[in-house]
Formats: sequence, C-alpha cells, structure tokens
Amino acid sequence: MRNFAALLLLLVTTSLPAQENTCQSLLTRKGLSQRASVPIGSCGNCHTGSTLSPLLAARLGNPEGNRWIRGDEILIWLGQKTTPDNPQAENSKDLSAIDRHSQAWTSLRSKTAEQMGKVLGKPNQLHRDPACLACHSSLPVYELEKDSAGLVSANYETDIRLTSGVSCEGCHGPAGDSLGADGPQKPGWGTAHVSPDNWRYLTPAEKCDHGYYDVRSVVSRTRLCVSCHVGNAELGRVITHEMYAAGHPPLPPFELQTFEQQMPRHWQEYHEKPQDMRTRFEAQTSYQPAEPTELKTRELLISALVTWSESLKLTADLAEQKTVVDFVKSPWPEFAQFDCYACHHDLRHDGWRQQSQVRGRPGRPRLTPWPATLAELAWQITTTDPGSGSSAPLAGFASVQQASVAAPFGDTVELMTATRSAAAAADQLIDRLQNTPLTAQQQQAVSTALLQKGTSGTVDYDSARQLAWSWLLLNSTDQNRQSLFPELFLQLHQGRAEADPIPGSENLSVTVIRIDPALSLPPIANYDPISFRKAFEALSQSPPPRTP
Ligand code: HEC
Ligand code: HEC
Ligand code: HEC
Ligand code: HEC
Ligand code: HEC
Repeated sequence: MRNFAALLLLLVTTSLPAQENTCQSLLTRKGLSQRASVPIGSCGNCHTGSTLSPLLAARLGNPEGNRWIRGDEILIWLGQKTTPDNPQAENSKDLSAIDRHSQAWTSLRSKTAEQMGKVLGKPNQLHRDPACLACHSSLPVYELEKDSAGLVSANYETDIRLTSGVSCEGCHGPAGDSLGADGPQKPGWGTAHVSPDNWRYLTPAEKCDHGYYDVRSVVSRTRLCVSCHVGNAELGRVITHEMYAAGHPPLPPFELQTFEQQMPRHWQEYHEKPQDMRTRFEAQTSYQPAEPTELKTRELLISALVTWSESLKLTADLAEQKTVVDFVKSPWPEFAQFDCYACHHDLRHDGWRQQSQVRGRPGRPRLTPWPATLAELAWQITTTDPGSGSSAPLAGFASVQQASVAAPFGDTVELMTATRSAAAAADQLIDRLQNTPLTAQQQQAVSTALLQKGTSGTVDYDSARQLAWSWLLLNSTDQNRQSLFPELFLQLHQGRAEADPIPGSENLSVTVIRIDPALSLPPIANYDPISFRKAFEALSQSPPPRTP
C-alpha cells in the first residue's frame, strides 16, 4: 500500500505542466457557435480529386501527385471510393466503404426513425428534432431558429449544411469566419488553410485560433468522437433510455482506433506521408514523431482514459442536470447510464451473472461497465512500479461503484462528487501520458494485461468486445483471428443492410444503409462469457508475433 501512495505522489509531482488541451474551448456550446458554417460544396474544388485536382496540386506545389493529404476526402466520406487502378469515381455497394457520417441526417428520415417518431409521439418530425440533430448533424442546434413545438425551423430541411449530416465541419470545426461576438472578426480556417505554406506549419493552438479543431492530438480527437459516440450533455448530445425504448440502436462501446479503422479512413497517418515532406515538416516545426507501434499502444491507453473520463462527466452532468441543454429530456435516474443487461436479460437459474463477481450490490443496476474496463488496464500499466511490480487500482473507481449502488440508482449527491473526482484523476494521468512514451516493457505489458483480463472471470458483452478489439489492434492484422470471437461482432458494419429508399433521396448517388436489429441484436443474446474466456485462453497459449 505504501508503494501505491508513493507512486501516486510521484504521479502528481512529476507530471509535466499540463499540455494545453488546445481546442477544448472549441468543443463547447460557445466555441461551436462563434463561427459561421459553410456548405460542403465550397470544399469540392480541392477535396474530391481522384487524380489530384489541378487547384489542389497547385496549392501543394507538387503536380507529381506526391501529397501531404490525399485530396479525395469527400469521395471517401460519400462512399464513392476511388483506387489508383480505377480513377473513375464509382458508387460503391460495399457497405463498409461508406462513411456513415455522410448519412447521419438521412437516417433521421429512415424507416427506423419513422417508427421511432410514432412511438415518441412526434411522427415525421425527428429530422427536425434538436435532440436527434445534436449528434446527427454538424450545426450547433442550440443556436438554430425553432418553431413553437421546439423543432428546428422547416427552412433547414433544404439547407445542405444540415442535410449533409456529420460532414467535414462536424469534426474539423465550423470553417467560416468568426461572427465577431467574441472580439474582432477573424478569418475562418476554411479560407486560411488553403495555402499550405502558411498553414501546415502552424501549431495546433494557432490552427484553433482559426476555429480548426485539433484532430491530430489523441486527447482532443477522442473527446470529439466520444461527444457523439458516448455523449456530451453541454452540447445536447444525449441518448436517453426513451430513445432506446423507441427503437434507437444501442450504441456500441467506443474504442478510438477500432472506430477510426472502420470509418473508413480519409487521412494518412503521419508515417504514411511522403518522406521529403516529413523531413521538411520536422525541420520547420521541431516536431518529433513517435515510433508507430509505441504510439498505437499509447493511444489505446490514452483514449481509454479519455473515454472513461468523458463518460463519468456525462453521468455527473445528467445526475446534476445543471449544464444539460433544455431540449434534452433526461430526468435522473437516466436508465441509459446504467448497465443495460442488468435489466434486460432472461431470468435464468444458474445464469452466468450469478457466478460473476459483479462489483456492487446484487440486484441494483451498476453504471454501464465497459468504459472502466480499458481505463483500468491503462491505469494498471502506467502506474506499475518497476521495482515491486505492483500497480495502483483505477483512481476513484471504487467510490464511483460504491456511490452507484449505495441506493437504487445510486446516491445522487455522492455519485456526482465521485464521478467528477474520478474524471479529474484520469485527466491528470492523461496529461502525463501524452508527453511520456511507453517503455518497451510497458508496451509488452499491455498485451499481457489484455490476456489476463480476457481469461479472468466473466466479462460483460461490451467489455468483451473492447478487449477483443484492443487485442486485435495490437497483435495482429490477420482478419482470421476475429473468428476466435464469433459472437462479438467486431466489425461495426456487421448487421448492416441496404435501406429502403428514403423519401427525397432518389437523387442521392449513394447507397443508404441501415442497422438491421434482427442481424445485430441476436449475437448479444447469444453471448457466452465462457466461450469468450476460452478464446482468450487459446490466445495466451500461443501468442502471435507482434506486427510492427
Ligand atoms: C483551394 C483549395 C481548397 C479548398 C477550397 C478547401 N481546401 Fe481543405 N485543404 C487544401 C489544402 C491545400 C490542404 C493541405 C494543407 C496543408 O498542407 O497543411 C487542405 C487541408 C485540409 C484539411 C486538413 C488540415 C490540417 O491542418 O491537417 C482539412 C480538414 C480540410 N482541408 C478540409 C476542408 C474543408 C472542410 C473545406 C471546405 C470548407 C476545404 N478544405 C476547402 C485545399 C483546399
Ligand atoms: C467523423 C469525423 C470526421 C469527419 C466527418 C471528417 N473528418 Fe477529416 N479527419 C478526421 C480525423 C480524425 C482526421 C485525422 C486523424 C489523424 O491525424 O490521426 C482527419 C483528417 C483529415 C485531413 C488530413 C488528411 C491527412 O492525410 O493528414 C483532411 C484533408 C480531412 N480530414 C478532410 C476532411 C473532409 C474534406 C471532410 C468532409 C468530407 C472530413 N475530413 C470529414 C475526422 C473527420
Ligand atoms: C457530431 C457527432 C459525431 C462525431 C463528432 C463523430 N461521430 Fe461517428 N457517428 C455519428 C453518427 C450519428 C453515426 C451514425 C450515422 C448513421 O448511420 O445515421 C456515426 C457513425 C460512426 C461509425 C459507423 C458505425 C457503424 O455502426 O457502422 C463509425 C465507425 C464512427 N462513427 C466513428 C467515429 C470516429 C472515429 C469519430 C471521431 C474521429 C466520430 N465517429 C465522430 C456521429 C458522430
Ligand atoms: C433499470 C432498468 C433498466 C436499464 C438499466 C435499462 N433498461 Fe431498457 N427498459 C427498462 C424497462 C422497465 C423497459 C420497459 C419494458 C416494457 O415496456 O416492457 C425498458 C425498455 C427498453 C426497450 C424497449 C423494449 C424492449 O425490450 O425492446 C429497449 C430497446 C431498451 N429498454 C433498451 C435499453 C438499453 C440499450 C439500455 C442500456 C443503455 C437499457 N435499456 C437500460 C428497464 C431498463
Ligand atoms: C448521443 C448522440 C446521438 C443522439 C442524441 C441520437 N443518435 Fe442516432 N445514432 C448515433 C450513433 C453514434 C449511431 C450509430 C450507432 C452504431 O454505430 O451502431 C446512431 C444511429 C442511429 C440510427 C440508425 C441508423 C441506421 O443506419 O439504421 C437511427 C435511425 C438514429 N440513430 C436515429 C436517431 C433519432 C431519431 C434520434 C433522436 C430521437 C437520435 N438518433 C439521437 C448517435 C446519436
């Protein structure tokens, strides 16, 4: 125990000055409404090139096609992927080739949404409901003009800035000029970035000053994705149990790099960019790239801690109700914050739940367990004392657990304090990890710890998916290994089907896809923790070589 205390002290005292999490102020209600949004059409000249568009080639000063960016990002986002052998843009029918963000608004007009609208008493209205648009569009919905029913004005139905769903600006930030509400008007990144010589070598903070969200840093990138894929109360991005009960597909557990790989990816990793351009970049910016395998492992740990921290803040905000946007109807206790399978499972005698070491009180739903699983592992790796080999338990975890079962649905006051302080502890470790590469020993320990977690006891479905994802991410690119975990649905696009045409979509050149619950839900019901454990046992007997 003394070791832990010493370690924690070390952790506090040696943490470098918190690396400024630039852009955090951009991902707030104020930050997102300070700048104008521009239609995606104005990006087309430069970002739809299958062969490098002449305009972009001129900007990059590199007509040979050697490029810092791909230049065909919009086509990838639309699912009209091009390859070097087939420069002609083609409407792809491969469901995994479509970036679903391009359909986020269209989905609000799908059969599933139509049915949800009926159940929620808002027939044919959900594509105008800010509670849905907060995640299914790129505009700051809290700012948009609403009618007396609280729906976003019908004028927006034909506004491409809304109907393009989660478009470039949904992740990269509003590209237009600042609206002047906050000091002198500044040119937006949409115009500032098109001249590489002036833009490329800016620091993330300088880019943020133009409203450009820093997607390179793993911390701000995870916060961005998680704001929609887990939730963010301040931005009104909250999935309620009412939405689930009306038919919203359950959100899969989030793991950053796995989700990025399945997006599909429209960017090159730093080490994939042309060597001469990297050399120049490093000379101009004194940037020191991390070794790719080390970075991948560290990003796994950092993003796990960020996800845990953000999910705690969401729970705290919903319990407190203070910062929650008015259009979110989510009175506490919000069932969607608790373990779905605590309430939704067949009653069975001798079920695996009775044998598992559920942490908490039998019969009281605990908080959704998966965000803690990888965070626990990250904490363990980074706090292990090389001398004694002992590590600290995930800070604040015990008190969050305790508070969440102290009364049915938790002791609200205790829960608010416990979640916020656990989030603060995680944030502190994140700051440190950002600046400290993992040792070779620590990297190896991550795989070992994954195997340990996979083979010890019973793991819930979502945590099992996360462990399998992480293991595959670090240890193998061999798709066959996924067959070790047959009931886990490791590819997000499994359980997807081509959707019925959506009213008004006749002119869309893309395949519209939908989540088919008949395909995606049975595996959850069939999930068997014992066969999952056996799969991990098989892996621990023959660990594969690490791929560089
Ligand atoms: C006139 C051509 C042009 C137009 C129009 C244009 N871009 Fe770009 N874009 C570029 C160039 C050139 C780069 C590479 C900049 C560099 O070298 O850092 C780039 C880079 C980017 C990046 C990566 C920036 C970074 O710092 O890594 C994003 C994101 C992007 N563009 C999005 C957009 C969006 C969204 C629009 C429409 C609002 C748009 N672009 C319009 C030329 C253009
Ligand atoms: C769901 C979020 C998301 C959306 C939507 C999105 N991007 Fe990106 N984009 C990213 C992330 C994340 C990165 C960089 C990640 C990294 O560097 O690790 C990126 C990187 C880029 C880059 C730099 C590419 C490179 O090779 O370095 C360009 C250019 C870009 N995006 C353009 C666009 C355009 C144009 C659109 C709209 C069609 C768009 N993005 C939509 C998340 C998104
Ligand atoms: C503004 C909200 C928002 C942000 C930010 C966002 N997403 Fe999404 N994402 C969505 C929505 C909404 C969907 C579902 C779209 C649909 O099908 O209607 C989605 C779908 C996806 C899917 C497809 C999932 C599947 O089941 O097929 C992946 C993968 C994904 N997002 C990854 C990411 C990553 C990685 C980031 C961060 C770089 C990110 N998203 C940022 C809202 C967002
Ligand atoms: C505290 C218990 C509890 C928790 C936790 C809970 N639910 Fe529910 N859920 C209910 C109850 C009660 C109903 C209403 C059942 C009915 O109408 O028969 C319901 C209904 C539903 C329904 C519609 C009815 C059905 O069975 O299809 C769905 C879907 C659903 N919940 C999904 C979820 C998801 C996803 C989660 C986790 C994010 C979750 N629930 C967490 C208690 C819970
Ligand atoms: C917290 C963010 C968030 C909110 C709020 C939200 N969604 Fe979603 N929605 C998502 C994400 C993320 C997905 C993709 C889930 C996946 O990958 O399985 C999704 C998927 C969907 C799908 C399935 C798309 C398909 O391809 O079948 C529909 C339909 C949908 N949402 C409708 C709605 C409606 C209607 C509302 C409002 C009542 C809403 N959503 C609110 C994030 C959100």
